[in-house]
Amino acid sequence: MKLFIDTANLDQIREAQSWGILDGVTTNPTLLSREKGNFRDILHSICEIVDGPVSGEVVSLDSEGMVKEAKDIATIHKNIVVKIPMTLEGLKAIKILSKKEIWTNTTLVFSPLQALLAAKAGTTFVSPFVGRLDDIHNIGMDVVGQIITIYENYGFNTEVIVASIRNPLHIVEAAMMGADICTIPFAVMEKMAKHPLTDRGIERFLEDWKKVEK
Ligand code: E4P
Repeated sequence: MKLFIDTANLDQIREAQSWGILDGVTTNPTLLSREKGNFRDILHSICEIVDGPVSGEVVSLDSEGMVKEAKDIATIHKNIVVKIPMTLEGLKAIKILSKKEIWTNTTLVFSPLQALLAAKAGTTFVSPFVGRLDDIHNIGMDVVGQIITIYENYGFNTEVIVASIRNPLHIVEAAMMGADICTIPFAVMEKMAKHPLTDRGIERFLEDWKKVEK
């Protein structure tokens, strides 16, 4: 399973990159609004740090505007993926962009049928938002399972990015289901590596090492 980091913060991206497990990055307007600087410069800097897909999002609501923005964002770097919201206008834009070989990540996906439409339009990635579904007492990971089954049934090449991840258990479930990618906030990514028994084990070994003759 590929691991993307879900942030536009360069320090967090550099740190996660140093761990040697990072495959890509996703941003959105909210994440970019938390950072200082021009969004194009930030996306370019991210592409310089991580050699993998880096998502930047359009804000137009009509397909023509989305395509125009997407073409512009795609010029930032060869690894840019353009996030398009899952609407009927979005589908039109995805179809056009897929013919122009611009990678797309269909975002704000909350149902298996939305994911089916996005794949048929030719999206490169689809992002079901599991945390936001959980927040309204729908089970986000059930939707991911449905999408994976549908894509396998029909041989779609679209990759599933499990997004809006809130805790490590989302990632365990995604991996068990065979999701292609998880995009993970920095704090959750850190938690993946941690276990209290590991910490306690290290403390004990260090204590016992003091008693060993050297
Ligand atoms: C990533 O592609 C999404 O924009 C992000 O995971 C949304 O996360 P949130 O629901 O925590 O805002």
